Parts: sequence; structure tokens; C-alpha cells
Amino acid sequence: MSLLITNIAELATPHGMVLRGAQAGALHIIHDAAVYVDGDTVCEVGARDAVEKKISGNPTVIDAAGKTVIPGLVDSHTHLVFAGSRETEFAMRCAGMNYQTIAAAGGGILSSVSATRAASVDELKSAAKHYLALALAHGTTTMEIKSGYGLDTETELKILDVIQSLSAEQPVELVPTFLGAHAIPQGKTSEAYVKELLEMLPHVKGKAQFIDAFVEENYFSHSETETLCRAAIHHGLKPRLHVNQLTANDGVRLGLKLGAASVDHLEKITDDEIRLLANSDCTATLLPAVSFFLNYGYPPARALIDAGAIVAIASNFNPGSAMTLNMQLVMSIACTQMRLTPAEALVTATLNPAYSLGVSEKIGGIEIGKQADLVIMDVQNHQMIPYFFGVNHVQTVIKKGTVVYSR
Ligand code: NIG
Repeated sequence: MSLLITNIAELATPHGMVLRGAQAGALHIIHDAAVYVDGDTVCEVGARDAVEKKISGNPTVIDAAGKTVIPGLVDSHTHLVFAGSRETEFAMRCAGMNYQTIAAAGGGILSSVSATRAASVDELKSAAKHYLALALAHGTTTMEIKSGYGLDTETELKILDVIQSLSAEQPVELVPTFLGAHAIPQGKTSEAYVKELLEMLPHVKGKAQFIDAFVEENYFSHSETETLCRAAIHHGLKPRLHVNQLTANDGVRLGLKLGAASVDHLEKITDDEIRLLANSDCTATLLPAVSFFLNYGYPPARALIDAGAIVAIASNFNPGSAMTLNMQLVMSIACTQMRLTPAEALVTATLNPAYSLGVSEKIGGIEIGKQADLVIMDVQNHQMIPYFFGVNHVQTVIKKGTVVYSR
């Protein structure tokens, strides 16, 4: 099966495996472009006349007149499998309470844990499928999903199994992460729970690619995280960690020591840690929607990019701190609140998150030989995507060379 997407007003894509520093917004832009896809792979991309001359056979033709084509969006930090919702907490925050106070009063992560433990596999799957369909309709074609609303062996494995079965049942490509260390379950000491987490690892092996932990006061300490991650690495899982979200906790240093693929959040990162990250190959995954939704300070994206760190942005979709699946909106917030350029917003929502997930050899750009994950946006150029905000511009989504969404 072959596909020709032609008459593209603007094709905008990053090239290579990762972009950083002065190259962080280095998009390749082609006007009046075409892309030829054979099977699941991009075979030709360039000026329309040149591409059309090279193709043979009778491909299915998509006329993208007046529209923009970008790579499928890559959302590299989500907590998509959970039961219930927490709009009452949202209302409490609107009335002036903060996230930590609500969590200390029995809300927060632990309230989603109770709901998720009580939910059946089918209930969890059907909610997650609904969320994935929404993400796809907003242009996301690859997504990392963390467990973490189980906090016991049975429910953590139930969540990872749901992710695994969803991989086969819908088009968004999924990368599973084990986040058993999301919070300390009620009635347990952190010491007892870390012991339990270590015992979960052999069962998690093969069901997750990454290990995550919430490194924070009242959650997981450096030494607990290190013990867990070292054991997880032994089982083939690579760390990506929640650090420096609520407090400046030196989590970047810990992530680097553990060889983390990514350190995520970084709202409270220090100048010293910015320098360390800039001299590493670890991705700084920033989550603009959580600062927007919880109404607290944004991470210093500009300083990170200018220092030369690898920066990605992600939705952080979860029921408490970021109830959005719209990566176009995340790009807008990144531009207006964190001073990314629209080109940097596109790179940090495609190639760089793919790099952090270890898949940028095939995902995150429209290049010959890469997987054909493309989105046709009903706008004239890529700058319109974050500029015309709060609106879904997706016209058509192509995953692995197949049209999987169209409106
Ligand atoms: O990334 N910080 C930890 N986890 C989520 C919040 C999860 C929740 O509130 O349910 C986050 O913000």
C-alpha cells in the first residue's frame, strides 16, 4: 500500500536524532511539498514536482491543498491509565487551596489510586481507549504512559497489562513506564513500600521499558530512588524521573548519576543543574500544562535551551495536575509562558521526546527511511499551530503509513 500526500502548502520537520542549543529550532521547511510513503516508511519527501516525478504505480493520493504537514506529535510524559476524575479538587484549587494541601487531606494521587484499584480491567481499558482516541485526534501518534495509580503489585501489573493490550488495539504507539514509586500507599512506611517495589520488579520485566519515581519531599528520597533504579536497571529498565517539581531537591544530579534518559518537571531546577544537564545527553522534559493548570512557576526552558540542554515538552496528562491531551495547546503554553519559538515548540514536541524514548531513529521527523507518522494540520504554516491556540487544527493523522484519523 502506498500513499502520496501532495500539494502541501508547508512541510515542517526536524531532521536527525536530536536537536539542541542553537539548533533547537532548526526545522526543514519545504513549500509546495509532497511526501511519498510505501508501507510504513517515508520513501520520498521534497518539492512536489520532484517527488511526483520519482513515484511509480498508483498510490492513494491525499491532496493537502493549503495545509501544513508535520511529524506525528510525541507525548513523552503521561499518566493515562487511571479511573475516575478529580474535578472536585480542581474546584477546591479554584477556591484557593493548593495541590499539596489537598493531597495531605486525602485527595491527590491517593484518591485516584483508590478508584483505580476498584476498577476492572475493562473499565480501565475503556477509559484509556477514550483518552487515546482524543490524543490521536489532536495529533499525538506516539505516547509514553506511566503506571502509578495502583501502588500495589496487583494493580500496578493490571495497569501495565492494560497498556500492553492497548498497544495492539488502537493506533497510538505506546511506550510503557513503571511508576510504582508514585506515592507511598496509605498505611505503609516508605521502607516497607520500597521493599515491595523491589519485589515487583521481576514481574514488571518485559511489561515496561522505563522506571520512574517521584523524587520529592514526602514521596521518594534520593537513596530510595537509587536503590529502586539500580535494581530496575538490572531488570532492563532505564530510569526517567520526576524531579525538582515542588522543591529544589537536587534530583537532576541523581538522574544523571543513574544514567536517566530524561529528568522531568524541573520547575525548581537550579543554575548549577542547568549546566549539568547542558553537558549531558539526558533530556529535560518540561510540562507546561502543569504550571498552567496548578498555577505555579514554569521551568526555565529558555535558559535550558540556551545553555545547550536537550529539551522536550509533554502533556503530563493525569487527573490531578494536567487534565489535557492536547499537545497543540502545550506548544502554545510553551511559546507564550516559557519563551520557546514556534519552531522550537515543534522540535520539542516531536524529535526530542522521541529521542528521550530511544525511538528517534524512526520517529519524530519526516525523512526518507523514517516511519511514516504524519499529521496534516488545517493551517497555512507551522507557526499557526501555537499561535491559533485552544483549537484543534488536525485534519488527518497518518500512523505507520495508514490514515488512522480524519475529519
Ligand atoms: O506529574 N508529580 C507526580 N505526578 C503527577 C501528578 C499526579 C496526580 O496528581 O494524580 C505530576 O504532576
